[in-house]
Amino acid sequence: MLRFESVTHVFPDGTRANHKIAFDVPRGQFCVLLGPSGAGKSTLLNTVNGLILPTEGKVVLDGEPVTSSNLAEIRRRIGMIHQQLHLVPRLSVLHNVLSGLLPVTPTWKAMLKLFPIDQQRRACQLLEEVEMEEKQLYRRASELSGGQQQRVAIARAFINDPDVVLADEPVASLDPTVSRHVLRLLRAASRQRDTTVLCSLHQVEFAIEFADRIVAFRSGEVVFDDLPSALTSDVLQHIYGGQEGDLVGAETLVEPKAEDKARANGRVPTPAE
Ligand SMILES: Nc1ncnc2c1ncn2[C@@H]1O[C@H](COP(=O)(O)OP(=O)(O)OP(=O)(O)O)[C@@H](O)[C@H]1O
Ligand SMILES: [Mg+2]
Repeated sequence: MLRFESVTHVFPDGTRANHKIAFDVPRGQFCVLLGPSGAGKSTLLNTVNGLILPTEGKVVLDGEPVTSSNLAEIRRRIGMIHQQLHLVPRLSVLHNVLSGLLPVTPTWKAMLKLFPIDQQRRACQLLEEVEMEEKQLYRRASELSGGQQQRVAIARAFINDPDVVLADEPVASLDPTVSRHVLRLLRAASRQRDTTVLCSLHQVEFAIEFADRIVAFRSGEVVFDDLPSALTSDVLQHIYGGQEGDLVGAETLVEPKAEDKARANGRVPTPAE
């Protein structure tokens, strides 16, 4: 379980990005972070992998607090998907996925691209899961479309069998159809391995469609934490205030499936659900 214990972060210039954030994310949950630009979503994601150490409070992963002394160990347990992808353009699809193993692979082996055969098999399996065809494995990342690159980034995030995957606006630069496809694959990969996903999004309709649970921020504070079905237009108004928010989808709310309710409560759904 991932726990935020009264996490506050104030940047050196005095900007308070997170204020007393406290919530738990049960194992396997697909938790979406919503909120207007500047609300503090990226800052909070960065506290999980220790890129930012909160000025007050702490982040605890399976009982272990994230501190400056255990960062390497914590990062091994976390996969990351960035909006800007951070793929290496000149490397092949397969090697980009294998590069996710760098924290656990000696540098000289990585430089010689000496990844053990079982890791290469795992990379291929993940690429198959994100629907990359075999013929694409040796193409350079720079030759792929945005949607294909993002699928490679998903495979890379899961290569190290992480406990948590952090995705910061993973579909920001993709069209709606490709975005849905990418989010479906991300959710499927997390379901398959019971991996917790913390994913920031700007598109409310995608949050409603894919999240087990939505935590919304405004000015660094949590202003909503519930099932997607509880995200009414009044709540959206409260989250986004007078600001430009993507309110599409608020009218199309439906009663959540029993399976989704179970996951939102941190339970594995029973076969009946
Ligand atoms: N390095 C920094 N130094 C000072 N202030 C920062 C820094 N990084 C972020 N901030 C500020 O912290 C606040 C939260 O930023 P953050 O990037 O977490 O928001 P966000 O919710 O991810 O926004 P967006 O949706 O635009 O990505 C903002 O006011 C931002 O300007
Ligand atoms: Mg951000």
